[in-house]
Amino acid sequence: MCGIIGYVGTRDVPSVLLGGLWRLEYRGYDSSGIAVIGNGELIIRKVPGKLSELEALIKRQPVSGGIGVGHTRWATHGLPQENNTHPLIDCNEEIALVVNGIIENYLSLKDDLESRGHIFRSVTDSEVIVHLIEEDLDKGLVDAVRSTVKKLTGNFAFAVISVNDRSKIVCARHDAPLICCYNSKEAAVASDISGVVSIFNDVIYIPNDSIVVLGKGKCNITNFQGREVRVTPRKVTIDVKDIDKGHFPHFMLKEIYEQPKVLHNIINERIVGGRVTLGSELGISDAEMKKVSRILIQACGTSWHAGLVGKYIIEKFARIHTEVDISSEFRYRDAVLDSDTLVMAVSQSGETADTLAGLREAKVKFLKVLSLVNVIQSSIHRESDGIIEIMAGPEIGVASTKAYTAEIVHLYLLALYLGSLRGFVSKVDLEEHIAALTKLPAQVEQVIRLDDDIREIAEEFSDARDFLFLGRGLNYATALEGALKLKEISYINATGYAAGEMKHGPIALIDHKMPIVCVNPRSSVYDKMFNNIQEAVARKGIPISVVTKGDRRTRGISKHSIPIPECHECVSPILAVIPLQLLAYHIATLKELDVDRPRNLAKSVTVE
Ligand code: G6P
Repeated sequence: MCGIIGYVGTRDVPSVLLGGLWRLEYRGYDSSGIAVIGNGELIIRKVPGKLSELEALIKRQPVSGGIGVGHTRWATHGLPQENNTHPLIDCNEEIALVVNGIIENYLSLKDDLESRGHIFRSVTDSEVIVHLIEEDLDKGLVDAVRSTVKKLTGNFAFAVISVNDRSKIVCARHDAPLICCYNSKEAAVASDISGVVSIFNDVIYIPNDSIVVLGKGKCNITNFQGREVRVTPRKVTIDVKDIDKGHFPHFMLKEIYEQPKVLHNIINERIVGGRVTLGSELGISDAEMKKVSRILIQACGTSWHAGLVGKYIIEKFARIHTEVDISSEFRYRDAVLDSDTLVMAVSQSGETADTLAGLREAKVKFLKVLSLVNVIQSSIHRESDGIIEIMAGPEIGVASTKAYTAEIVHLYLLALYLGSLRGFVSKVDLEEHIAALTKLPAQVEQVIRLDDDIREIAEEFSDARDFLFLGRGLNYATALEGALKLKEISYINATGYAAGEMKHGPIALIDHKMPIVCVNPRSSVYDKMFNNIQEAVARKGIPISVVTKGDRRTRGISKHSIPIPECHECVSPILAVIPLQLLAYHIATLKELDVDRPRNLAKSVTVE
């Protein structure tokens, strides 16, 4: 959600800015722009719409200079039109600013600024920042930024450049992500590491509530009060090819196909000598884990669905009462949390604003937070007491796929770990589970081989107006996730439901035109789910069922069936979701939609 890039150095500045924005594109945006200082003045290029349009504009109207900032904007306040697109400039056209976040007190600040004669060009909340800095510029840019951040409420990360000092970029962050890199010849700032990946070897994760003055060979970090903050740079561990589509037409398809490899790596790393190991950053001792009487998992979107699977598995194996909350609900509901509650955040990006706020809510109540994250050094990583890295590798497609299965497998491993610790999982049980997990990568590979068959099913239903997804037990979450995938990228109205609850509402929607995706692998609730499919058939619904290979019963009553390999019930949510990811993918591509960048969505939701 909004991408920030800034660069000062010897390379061609517009190219570096555009390259960074392309790599940050996955975060989600609807307009983009850059500002470069050339010949002592700010030169701005911005467009509502895609980066290709910005690139074309820069080709038609080239810019050059040694310092610049760029931005992809995901509209919150004001339509995606040129005046609202960043960079934003002050009244005197001396400074250019790019911002990610939301300024909650912008209306009162704006009233005050306008009463003092400032002219606003946009209706964005962010524009107040550029005028506040402008008012204090006589103190110098850094002090002007320092006095400005103290007046803002909300969350923000920003970078600002000034025509009066072409050697530095000044940045600040409060509860929104920002990283920077520098060496003796150049320096850059970006929302995340992908913005600068091909240029620098080391990265600095800017601490929360700090201001950075960045230039060639220079990176001074201070807190908002002005005290110096020391941060050790880390090696950049991702490569350009990790964030490249390779031979795949879309990131989403690449990431679906990467799942066997991801699962293989996880199992190799996490199961050592017949035991589950959850990494060196677990941060919570076995003694503390034993005392946990309740787990509260809070997450958003796909990660929330993974949490739902986690609840079933943790309760089953560790016998710990587990609740799953949507973070935006958890953070405001004043949940009853006692000292033996372990709060968990599950997040691919590690930056989701509501999940981060939920984590902080728990910490205010002095509870330990254990998080599952994919992005290392993200805010959720840094603020948790312990973390389990889900090891999915960079996920670029907005619709999460490989991170989902990596989250589930880690929740499964956590359940086994807790179950063993508490004596509910015997050595023999553990061996059985490890055997099931070890088979998983090859089994996922087998499901992916059904891609062409799934595409054929997609062809038949790509014009459907509505879809229903049903599942029970562990695969209730699979139904929710399948429906979410479809609506996210194909814009088809898709409802995911617990099949047993169908007769309390959604059954009214079923007619001869309604495709119903039924997730019914062999499981403890197989017969119950079978009955629910029968009920849908009796109303002329069209079942497309995910079944265990060789299951003739469910196949016999379904219009189409997609077989997954025979497996332990607890890994079935991983195998059963793959066909639903592929179904959504093919329907969206048949509709010629932008699969990797669906409208209105963002990969990293850094605002509430
Ligand atoms: C956004 C993304 C979803 C993701 C959700 C939670 O809505 O589009 O794909 O599931 O955020 O993100 P997180 O990074 O916290 O897992």
